[in-house]
Amino acid sequence: MRIDVVTLFGPALDPLLGIGAVGRARKRGLVEVGFVNPRDFSRDKHRKVDDRPYGGGAGMILMAEPLAAAVKSVRKKSSLVVFLSPQGRKFTQADARRLVKQKHLILVCGRYEGIDERAAALFDEEISIGDYVLSGGEPAAAAVADAVLRLVPGVLEKTEAAERESFAEDGGGALDYPQYTRPRIWRGKKVPAALLTGNHEEIALWRRKAARAATRKKRPDLLKSARQRAPGVI
Ligand code: ADE
Repeated sequence: MRIDVVTLFGPALDPLLGIGAVGRARKRGLVEVGFVNPRDFSRDKHRKVDDRPYGGGAGMILMAEPLAAAVKSVRKKSSLVVFLSPQGRKFTQADARRLVKQKHLILVCGRYEGIDERAAALFDEEISIGDYVLSGGEPAAAAVADAVLRLVPGVLEKTEAAERESFAEDGGGALDYPQYTRPRIWRGKKVPAALLTGNHEEIALWRRKAARAATRKKRPDLLKSARQRAPGVI
């Protein structure tokens, strides 16, 4: 799988997608991440990519042409073009599972006060990572790219790790169970006894119960939909 990010700030985004499992997968050539700078497609001698809004108002607007040319430079027939914006549909784990099936994703970051509306025709989808406003789409593109790429088979050391965690399909969309590592007692707090038994059934039972308790406590809103999707699991 390949992801190209259309951004004015590729050099800032690159290291973030160069760490951990995704970074290792990039180095191994299992997944590819590229950056396209709209400034390289500016027709202006000062490489200008933004201008004042028609009708007046504060801030600068990203011009349609450098964005369109940047997208065109990497777009293939099979590409899915996604615009990151607070006005998009809210990104969920289900979207990550859907997008990982694509061969090529193009993530387009907005900046300044927005983009020229006429560029909207370039995009297949508009995605938001939450109901808050970022200064630009870059943190959102990093979040989406990471959530998608870690689902590419072979990116995580154990595929199991991706399947079992919070929001995974087999958990019905509930939270993951709590984890513990050494030492057995830390600041007077003990590791739950069931996890030390070596009894797989007992451990699995404890984890199911603990996942349910964590979801009830931290995200009760998830419990209802998780029960509907995976009755008996949660
Ligand atoms: N750009 C600015 N805010 C954003 C958000 N919440 N999600 C995605 N892209 C954005």
